[in-house]
Amino acid sequence: MSWKHNRGRVKTKAPSNIAWIKYWGKKGLQLPINPSLSMTLDKCHTVTELGFELGSMGDSLTCEFYFHGEKNEKFLPKINTFIDRVRGIYPFLNSANFLEIRSENSFPHSSGIASSASAFCALALALEEIQSKLDGEERDLQRAGQAARLGSGSACRSLSGGFNLWGDLAGELGSDEFAIEMEDVHPVFKSAKNAIFVVNSGEKSVGSTLGHSLMQGHPFARARIEQANKNCVKALSCLRDGDVWELGKIVENEAMSLHALMMTSDPSFILMAPETLELIEMIRTFRESQNIPVFFTLDAGPNPHVLYFEKDKEPVENILFQTMIGRCEKGRVIMDEVGAGAKVLESRFGDSY
Ligand code: PMV
Repeated sequence: MSWKHNRGRVKTKAPSNIAWIKYWGKKGLQLPINPSLSMTLDKCHTVTELGFELGSMGDSLTCEFYFHGEKNEKFLPKINTFIDRVRGIYPFLNSANFLEIRSENSFPHSSGIASSASAFCALALALEEIQSKLDGEERDLQRAGQAARLGSGSACRSLSGGFNLWGDLAGELGSDEFAIEMEDVHPVFKSAKNAIFVVNSGEKSVGSTLGHSLMQGHPFARARIEQANKNCVKALSCLRDGDVWELGKIVENEAMSLHALMMTSDPSFILMAPETLELIEMIRTFRESQNIPVFFTLDAGPNPHVLYFEKDKEPVENILFQTMIGRCEKGRVIMDEVGAGAKVLESRFGDSY
């Protein structure tokens, strides 16, 4: 097959996302065992440049990966697996003989701040941009979502902004293949803030691939699937009605359930740190004493994410955060908020680039 251009280079930017309803456990090829719901972040993002060169159909493909300007071999096996998985979705890859991927992250990777979500979302969007330009068609975000999912499940929830549902919810809403952006969102949630208190930016002891696999045969798997479905239905109605208190309660229940599943799997593992528990206590005490809707969630790592709203910014940031900051590694807090989703920043095609 011959394509419109032989070479090109595209640059994309994709945010991370934080799950309010957690995806934990897979079936088939990166399909979730339960639906999840996330908030797209804004500041935590990956910028990726993807250069490609086409040869003949069946040529072997060499892929080079640079992370923050330095050649990186460590992430290459994961990237190569991803590229092989998406060849059917992006057929230009079957004629490509060279890919150069250059990525930069605005936040620490592999520490449970969902860096694989932004990384694979940025890469999938770059592949989508190339394939659609070579085909002379519009970009297809559902196709990009299916591809992103094959790199890291949660990556499919980063393509669109706002709040995204991934997974089949009682056969009525959502899809296991890709995420969909929720349209019916109360304005209070559009003003949601997410501050990440980095208590440990080091690499986590157990990666999410192993963690997901431990849900197979987990004694609480069935109950978990039921809980996540129920929480998801309730969360969507709170999102629509603006019920911050009820949704906050669900978000905390999901974070605790995720970590409880980790602690009760075989082998069991703990990703929380002593500081994680101290910070959770501070958030709860502040909420109860001040009657301010401020909540926590946790990703697969020890760093609490604080969820609060624009109208409560002043007391939360000036009082609560001042007491919490001393528990963080070098006082590091990443302030974030609801973001707009992934973007193509540049796109150049031709016989040279
Ligand atoms: O997308 P993965 O395979 O890295 O898994 C993400 C799992 C959690 O971050 C713990 C939960 C979620 O839904 O994002």
